[in-house]
Amino acid sequence: MKAIRIEHPGQGYGLAVAEIERPSPAPGEVLIRVAAAGLNRADLAQAMGMYPPPPGAPETLGMEVSGEVAALGDGVRSCEIGDAVCALIPGGGYAEYATASALCVLPVPNGVSVVDAAALPEAHFTVWTNLIDSARLKPGESVLIHGGSSGVGTAAIQLCAARGHRVFTTAGSADKCAACERLGAATAINYRQTDFVEVVRAETEGRGVDVVLDMVGGDYIQRNMSAAAPWGRIANIAYQSGMSATVNFAPMLMKRLSLLATTLRSRTLAEKGAIRDALLRDVWPLIEAGKIKPVIDRLFPLADAQAAHARMASSEHVGKILLTL
Ligand SMILES: NC(=O)c1ccc[n+]([C@@H]2O[C@H](COP(=O)([O-])OP(=O)(O)OC[C@H]3O[C@@H](n4cnc5c(N)ncnc54)[C@H](OP(=O)(O)O)[C@@H]3O)[C@@H](O)[C@H]2O)c1
Repeated sequence: MKAIRIEHPGQGYGLAVAEIERPSPAPGEVLIRVAAAGLNRADLAQAMGMYPPPPGAPETLGMEVSGEVAALGDGVRSCEIGDAVCALIPGGGYAEYATASALCVLPVPNGVSVVDAAALPEAHFTVWTNLIDSARLKPGESVLIHGGSSGVGTAAIQLCAARGHRVFTTAGSADKCAACERLGAATAINYRQTDFVEVVRAETEGRGVDVVLDMVGGDYIQRNMSAAAPWGRIANIAYQSGMSATVNFAPMLMKRLSLLATTLRSRTLAEKGAIRDALLRDVWPLIEAGKIKPVIDRLFPLADAQAAHARMASSEHVGKILLTL
């Protein structure tokens, strides 16, 4: 089958179509004939040689796909051959076929095309487990979502808005801020021009937000504490501006804050399965009701994976970039 191979991993890596063996599903897995694969920021790090796949995962890039079930491994009862599905996978998505644990497979929601469904798994698994499982976002609470125009951010804004939360978000241009407000953010802050701490404080009568979802790190670690309300929870999913910072922890004590962080890829299948069940119960109905939509920036044919990566590296995108087969 055709798949994308990383040529000379590292700075200036290349992505090219290659022929590799088609995988076959192990017990508990399904084989998916891929219609589309979602790009994730982590794919760029993997191609640069900085984020190796977990043990046992395919070397091929790609952590989420949509398509049609082509074969079932032993013991799989939750889907049937021919079902339209999307799935979170540990790797191998940039290919004609990919295997997925049945625990991480979801139906393509009614009203969403099979291709567009590739935009859903990674973003929604990440948003749910961070905002709901880790940060325990409760009804009526306010939230600050950094990187609102990212794949993860566009999903987070919509989920929070659909569940009635007041959403603050940051993005790097006026156009991106406008896109975030169209998705349901009450206040989108162009972080290149305005200090998000000042805006959040001014618009909450000095109280701050209950939950922060952060992918920036660096100096945001301190500033998130300043923007947080008493008993606030700050969940980090990345530290793009730096893993290290000099921090004054006094606000943690005075405001009784929690700092949280997880990665999805390294979680156990049982944990991922529990997130998948929660998405099916609480998020898929919102998608089917049209309250949450996959936000697609651009589609690229699989053979143009290199150009798709260049688009993500440029950070000009809003939402998800997909490879189609
Ligand atoms: N831990 C996990 O389980 C997990 C799972 C999925 C994703 N992630 C991480 O989450 C992030 C988003 O992933 P993605 O695939 O959705 O990537 P993406 O679409 O490329 O998004 C990256 C975002 O970071 C924003 N950003 C960069 N510097 C910023 C700053 N100083 N302030 C505010 N925003 C800033 C960018 O906004 P501008 O272009 O406007 O600067 C962009 O929207 C990535 O870092 C990824 O590695 C983690």
